[in-house]
Amino acid sequence: MVEEGDRAVCAFNGAVESDHAGYTGTGYANVANAAGTTLTWAISVATPGRYSFAVRYANGATTARPAVISTAQLSGNFGFSPTTSWADWREEIIVFDLAAGSQIINLTANSADGLPNIDSLRVVGPGSISAGMCPDQPPLTVWLAGDSTVANGNTPCPVGWGKVFGSLFNDKVTVQNAAVGGRSVRTWLYDVLSQAGNDGECRITTNGDGSPVLQARWTSMLAQMRPGDYLFIQFGINDGSPTCPRHVGSNAFKNEYVYMANEAKKRGVQPILVTPAPALKCSGSSAVASRGFLTETFSVGSQLNIPVIDLHKLGTDLYNQLAFCPVAGGDVSASTTGPVGNFFCDDHTHFDTPGAQQIAGIIAKALRAQAVPLADYLKAE
Ligand code: GCU
Repeated sequence: MVEEGDRAVCAFNGAVESDHAGYTGTGYANVANAAGTTLTWAISVATPGRYSFAVRYANGATTARPAVISTAQLSGNFGFSPTTSWADWREEIIVFDLAAGSQIINLTANSADGLPNIDSLRVVGPGSISAGMCPDQPPLTVWLAGDSTVANGNTPCPVGWGKVFGSLFNDKVTVQNAAVGGRSVRTWLYDVLSQAGNDGECRITTNGDGSPVLQARWTSMLAQMRPGDYLFIQFGINDGSPTCPRHVGSNAFKNEYVYMANEAKKRGVQPILVTPAPALKCSGSSAVASRGFLTETFSVGSQLNIPVIDLHKLGTDLYNQLAFCPVAGGDVSASTTGPVGNFFCDDHTHFDTPGAQQIAGIIAKALRAQAVPLADYLKAE
């Protein structure tokens, strides 16, 4: 069901109104009263076949408001005869054979009165229908900076969620996964040495002027970022060592996140922080928190007013929903078969492909729940 305000509603000349009762969703589209005025939807068809298109409308005027409904290949006619009032809603239905893929659907008024008020479009057929690509949706890149729980990894294990994330989006999104296994935020950004400096942080290789030598994965990302892109930042599982090079103090961790997020913002790129992926840690039959750098991540999110996806919590909740605990042989580093063995590599930190897919799925769900505009580019739920 496509309602006004949904991302499948691309454009129309008019307004969403709610004066007349009986609509579904938040209101209905009152499109301008003129011949040729058009309401455009974009849908994505996963399964080709025969679909019915039901347009719910009210026409409280005394004369019909005929219209043409069309895809790139097909078109049909709706009469939109008067209903008894503007609050009396009816459906007109047409059947189209649809190919798979994204389809633009135009509903175009054939008379000078324009379209009736349009409440929704209901598409029913052999497969699920999701929002497609509106004609004016610009392409964008999602950049990923993170550790092995994000990285493309190895076959069959470990596989990070970043490897499968791109498959959740329509083809206007390209995911560039620059996550690398074993990296803290600082070893991802810099060449970190094994000696600690006076400030307690690990020393890094510097240029002649004292500025840090940046890793090419970061400088090349910065050079390619375009306004409208997104940068996801997720570290924290390799940052907590007491010794260098994997030691990152709490303030240093925050400072690096602020630095990265601000570099993205300067380029018109939206940063998104993600709390560390949880390892499977059981307390009796409950999965419990397993990672640090949570408060640091949230603190930067509120300081810079940028979204934080709490993967640590959402992932732990998922492990509980899947009743992963207790685990035979102990929670961490136990070789397991069955659902836990399918989800994780043997260390119960890294993911196997099914685990990576579920983790990518909860991140996508969080994008929707947190109303991050990137969610407009996601395929079907
Ligand atoms: C009335 C009615 C509107 C409708 C309009 C029209 O103003 O209140 O909801 O859109 O007529 O003629 O289209």
